[in-house]
Amino acid sequence: MTDWKQLGFSYIRTDYRFISYYKNGEWDEGQLITDNVLHISEGSTALHYGQQCFEGMKAYRRADGQINLFRPYENAKRMKKSCERLVMPPYPEEKFIEAVKKVVLANEKWVPPYESRSTLYIRPFMIGVGDNLGIHASDEYIFSIIVMPVGSYFKNGLYPSNFYVTEYDRAAPRGTGASKVGGNYASGLLPGKEAKSRNFADCVYLDPETHTKIEEVGAANFFGITHDNEFLTPKSPSILNSITRRSLLWLAENRLNLSVREGDVFIDQIDQFKEAGACGTAAVVSPIGGLQVGDHFHVFYSEEVVGPVTKRLYNELTGIQFGDIDAPEGWMMTLNS
Ligand code: PLP
Ligand code: COI
Repeated sequence: MTDWKQLGFSYIRTDYRFISYYKNGEWDEGQLITDNVLHISEGSTALHYGQQCFEGMKAYRRADGQINLFRPYENAKRMKKSCERLVMPPYPEEKFIEAVKKVVLANEKWVPPYESRSTLYIRPFMIGVGDNLGIHASDEYIFSIIVMPVGSYFKNGLYPSNFYVTEYDRAAPRGTGASKVGGNYASGLLPGKEAKSRNFADCVYLDPETHTKIEEVGAANFFGITHDNEFLTPKSPSILNSITRRSLLWLAENRLNLSVREGDVFIDQIDQFKEAGACGTAAVVSPIGGLQVGDHFHVFYSEEVVGPVTKRLYNELTGIQFGDIDAPEGWMMTLNS
């Protein structure tokens, strides 16, 4: 028996995964399979040159038992952009949505119950495969979607976590930071490990050009609530264009009546914030208790209690995702089982 409330964020083998192959210039129909092991050529470009990309999205069990997807077309569109950046053939948007629906419904018993507040994480990914050696884009690919039930990404959920500003960069100024590609996460493994070994939840990156502005968190975007109630979040060409951040910008403005801004967040001005948080599909809305900047440890609202604005943003977002609060037009897709 799965204890839905005790789930963290780790691999669980569910029953089905979707897989489709690209060969001779076209994607095949794709199918659901039970085998969780991929058999690929040792010459796969994904293995040698990191030619791959992925997405992260979730399915939510509603109180009435139906299943919701949150803004799935946004993931399809972002994956298309990541594919283009890494010279891979995008998986067509409509087929992407159909495949997500198919794999979620096939694994319906793995979608956690509403009361648990856990969700089914959906991980579409694409890898360059085939017999290759030189540095060039492959002409063979696999697109797959795996799903697994998850709980909180940062172990504390709505309890604040502490973060640490690293001196490493995750992406170059005109590199692949805005794309959801594995290389960005590979370069974050060492700083992430350093942060965790010092008891921080993760690190915060500064902009790679000047190291003066907050860029994002290792696995999420950053936002802060200023003392005069502005929702401020970094604008940068080298961060991931978070769907959660864009949703929070809209909700902060239209549901919480805050002023909102995407702009520079200078690291020497973090005392402008009364609250701060990390946001993303896995992270949801995670309050940042304190931030270590060099020798200085800055506490935002509290190291122990979530701030009131962050909590309202969390409630509004998750209320919409689980189907308890009316969603803006076009945000939710409810699956028919
Ligand atoms: N930033 C990074 C580096 C991420 O890995 C993620 C997760 O997808 C996000 C931000 C948040 O993006 P989204 O809200 O679209 O999940
Ligand atoms: C997500 O939030 O979906 C992510 O991909 C973040 C992390 C697990 C890589």
